[in-house]
Amino acid sequence: MRYVKLAGGEFCPAIGLGTAGLLEDNCEQAVRWALDIGYRLIDTAWAYKNQSSIGRALRKSSIPRSEIFISTKIWRDNLNYDGVIEQCGQILNQLQVDYVDLLLTHWPSDAHIRARHEPTNITPLEETLSAFNEVYRQGKVRHLGVSNYDQDLLHQAQTLSKVPISVNQVHFHLPDSICTENVSTSLLDTCQKSNVAVMAYCPLGSGWCPGKGSLLQSPILAGIANQQGKTSAQIALKWAMNQGAIIIPKSGSEVHLRQNIDILDFEFTTEQMQLLDSL
Ligand SMILES: NC(=O)c1ccc[n+]([C@@H]2O[C@H](COP(=O)([O-])OP(=O)(O)OC[C@H]3O[C@@H](n4cnc5c(N)ncnc54)[C@H](OP(=O)(O)O)[C@@H]3O)[C@@H](O)[C@H]2O)c1
Repeated sequence: MRYVKLAGGEFCPAIGLGTAGLLEDNCEQAVRWALDIGYRLIDTAWAYKNQSSIGRALRKSSIPRSEIFISTKIWRDNLNYDGVIEQCGQILNQLQVDYVDLLLTHWPSDAHIRARHEPTNITPLEETLSAFNEVYRQGKVRHLGVSNYDQDLLHQAQTLSKVPISVNQVHFHLPDSICTENVSTSLLDTCQKSNVAVMAYCPLGSGWCPGKGSLLQSPILAGIANQQGKTSAQIALKWAMNQGAIIIPKSGSEVHLRQNIDILDFEFTTEQMQLLDSL
């Protein structure tokens, strides 16, 4: 496994399992396969409604809790102080663990309101982060992070939080012509320069991605995959990991789970890098 160093000096596996859309027995099975295959990072969220299933998989595994990195998220309606404290407690209960390794704000509340034009509850970032710092102080959370933050919001969060913001989880994959939500490599640069690891969601440009699989249809990817004896998905994941991102592809298929972690045994040639950059 490759690792990414977080603010504070600890390490996070560079490849993890995303679990959005995995429910009940399918989720438990996928997490059990993933742990057996060698995954040590599991990404979930209160909103995914699968933390109890993940908890069951963790309990049935013989891998010590200390070797597994669990990342989860507080939903945007619960970003007020009491809401964060309460939902963090629910998360620990559902997962049946004493602590999680990373707690993220799933979405910034004001950005969501701008996007949807609906008068929802706006919580000042300061209040949210004060609660995040409190659950950290209580030992319920080992690292704090955010998700879907642009440069400005990230900077505000870093200024307001006493505990470092270790991770920004964002929509990041090789560009394709359809997906406009993909973040630019300049956000990645900003994060890395300020010691914030980028956790790339939709790294296959699939799942919840508006492009929905168009990236994996790219003839450029297919050509490189053919040269490397890999699949297009493995090429897309390797590219994202090579940018320094932690990648969390979701899969409920044992075959795909094996493929997605099997990307450490090859490197791109200069010509292949140029082709990928051209995307
Ligand atoms: N913070 C946020 O706001 C946010 C938003 C979205 C997602 N996320 C997180 O990021 C994770 C990943 O994002 P995502 O699930 O939207 O998209 P993704 O990981 O880019 O794509 C998942 C899709 O790709 C397929 N797939 C997986 N491995 C494959 C392979 N080797 N070959 C071909 N197809 C493959 C999966 O199908 P199979 O199951 O059949 O393999 C699934 O349909 C989520 O599960 C979640 O944990 C976070």
